[in-house]
Amino acid sequence: MVPVIAFFNQKGGTAKTTSTLNVGAALAERGQRVLALDLDPQASLTMALGIDIARLEASVYDLLVEDPLPLSEVIVATRIEGFDLVPSHPDLAAAELELLNALERERRLAHALAAADPLPYDYVLIDSPPALNILSVNILVAATALVIPIEPHPFEEILTWVERLRAGEVESRVALVP
Ligand SMILES: Nc1ncnc2c1ncn2[C@@H]1O[C@H](COP(=O)(O)OP(=O)(O)O)[C@@H](O)[C@H]1O
Ligand SMILES: [Mg+2]
Repeated sequence: MVPVIAFFNQKGGTAKTTSTLNVGAALAERGQRVLALDLDPQASLTMALGIDIARLEASVYDLLVEDPLPLSEVIVATRIEGFDLVPSHPDLAAAELELLNALERERRLAHALAAADPLPYDYVLIDSPPALNILSVNILVAATALVIPIEPHPFEEILTWVERLRAGEVESRVALVP
C-alpha cells in the first residue's frame, strides 16, 4: 500500500502546509510520484500551487459526500512535474455539518483512497486543517503515518534565558547538555 503521510496538528501556523508543499516538491524532484490532498477549507496548499479555486469543477469535498466522485476525477496536475493535487474548496467547511448524521462518516476519505487502489503514486501527502473535527478524524483514519509539526516557542525561550545567564548577566554555572 502507498504510504499516506498526514501533516497534522490542530493548531494553526505550525508549518503543516509549508511542510506538505516542500516535502512533496522534494520527493517529486527525486523522481517520486506524489499526490497531495488539501483537506483544509482555507485551501492554502491549493492556492500555493497556483490553482484557481473559482475555476475548479471538483474538489476533495466531492470525495466525502454521499455519492462521491472517483478519486481520479478530482485530481488536478500542478506546475510541479510528478506532483498532483486533490484541491480543497471553501465548500469543505460545510462538510462537518453535512456529515453529522452520515453513515461511516469518519471513513469517507479512507474509502476514497481504498476504492482507487492501486494508486499510481509513490506517496500520498495530506495537508490538515487547524482543527479537531470530522475532517481531522477522516485524516487520522486514512493516514498510515503522521508528521506533527510543532512550534518550539517555549524551548526557544529557555535557550534565550540560558544564553543570557551564561553571558554573565546573572551569575550561574549552568551548562547545556548537548
Ligand atoms: N521552516 C520554517 N521557517 C520559518 N517560517 C516557516 C517555516 N515553515 C513555515 N513557516 C511560516 O510559518 C507560517 C505558517 O506556516 P503554514 O505552513 O501556513 O502553517 P499551517 O499550515 O500549520 O497553518 C507561514 O507564514 C510560513 O511561511
Ligand atoms: Mg495550513
